[in-house]
Amino acid sequence: MHVRSVAALLAALALSAAGCGGSDDKEKSGGGSGAAATETGSGETAGVKEADAASADSAKGSVTYCTGKDTSGAQIESVKLFNEAAKAQGLTAKILEFPESADAQREQFIQRQRAKSGECDIFYSDVVWTAEFAAQKWLLDMTKIVEGRKDEFIPSTLETVKYDGKYFGVPKQTDAGFLYYRSDKVDAVPATWQAVYAEAAKTDGIVYQGAPYEGLTVNYLELAFAAGGKVLSDDGKKSEIDSPENLKALQFMADGIKQGGAKKSVTTYMEEQARRSFEAGRATFMRNWPYAFALGNKAKKIKGKFKVAPYPEFEGGGKAGILGGHNLVISAFSKNPGGAVKLIDFLTAPEAIKRDAAKYSLAPTLLATYDDPEVQKALPFAADLKQAVEQAKSRPVTPVYNAVSQAIYKNVNAALSGQMEPKAALEKAQTEIDKALGTF
Ligand code: GLC
Repeated sequence: MHVRSVAALLAALALSAAGCGGSDDKEKSGGGSGAAATETGSGETAGVKEADAASADSAKGSVTYCTGKDTSGAQIESVKLFNEAAKAQGLTAKILEFPESADAQREQFIQRQRAKSGECDIFYSDVVWTAEFAAQKWLLDMTKIVEGRKDEFIPSTLETVKYDGKYFGVPKQTDAGFLYYRSDKVDAVPATWQAVYAEAAKTDGIVYQGAPYEGLTVNYLELAFAAGGKVLSDDGKKSEIDSPENLKALQFMADGIKQGGAKKSVTTYMEEQARRSFEAGRATFMRNWPYAFALGNKAKKIKGKFKVAPYPEFEGGGKAGILGGHNLVISAFSKNPGGAVKLIDFLTAPEAIKRDAAKYSLAPTLLATYDDPEVQKALPFAADLKQAVEQAKSRPVTPVYNAVSQAIYKNVNAALSGQMEPKAALEKAQTEIDKALGTF
């Protein structure tokens, strides 16, 4: 899918629905790149306040950093180091952890922003939330700050903070899914997903994220895109989820559970359940993000007995991955935006991103980190990771993304748990996505 053109179109639609902006404005708005896009001040996000870098060094008081569950401990360590460094300035930071699932974190943030609460100064924002949060004018514009550091970041990660021609955050951690496998049980990852599932059926199976939440949208789209499918039409106007390619992928996943390649319990699994199952030695293969690598190396049962590989091909299709990750955004209701800029600078500095990678196997957003010998030693798949992040496809960029994703994961989950035929599930998803696109 041409994500940029979809984004531009969706933003243009929103503009015309709001009855503002001439045709020039429409062209300039949206997630497209280029000078024209950054010059516009008249899009949907017109009037949002800018984050002021100049006030960062004199900021005092406290800053609250709202984030998901800190499974790896990386965030806690970084904030502790920040507090040591910022003490002299009279600035402190604290973490507020939200529940584990991506959807629950979004809900927590939305509740606060609707109430115009200043509780979260910074939010660890999933790449798929930028459009929605920016369109609601819940975020500060960080364009000037990002422009000054643009060359440091992997370009695909910068695209995830761009909306309406502006940057609404700083890329903190990127993500690409990998296939973990027990190297003491299989020699290598087979060349196709079909062969992986066949091997899984003969051994202890594969685990992935199949619960009805954002993670399942990712897991399904990885296979659907590899099979040649799309979510929206190229012009972004309608759903194309009900296609023969997408059906092939869904049928494959449903059969995988029926035929024993995938464990039945995956329909209730998020990242952490899959990781625990793999670490307990109950699965031969696992689809997961890089964070599970460092933790796996500490797990007694599998330490030294597993490896990480890029995805295989979908038979009759190709290879595909989905870009994940999180950006640090500043709430429009923050009472300490200067302090927030200071903390974001610290958390996205080369030293912090390197520590996140080398110690916690979190995927770096900074290009140079991949060339660091310590990082390469700690992450033997660093080169594959960089390539996966550069080549991964985006999920659709739209302010109604959450409704689009819900239509996908609820119906896909129903098909995986045998409550619906795959074809009927895609038909229902199609209707629901079209309805969501019609709401703005
Ligand atoms: C990871 C990814 C994020 C994705 C989520 C789904 O946290 O970084 O982009 O939405 O998993 O569970």
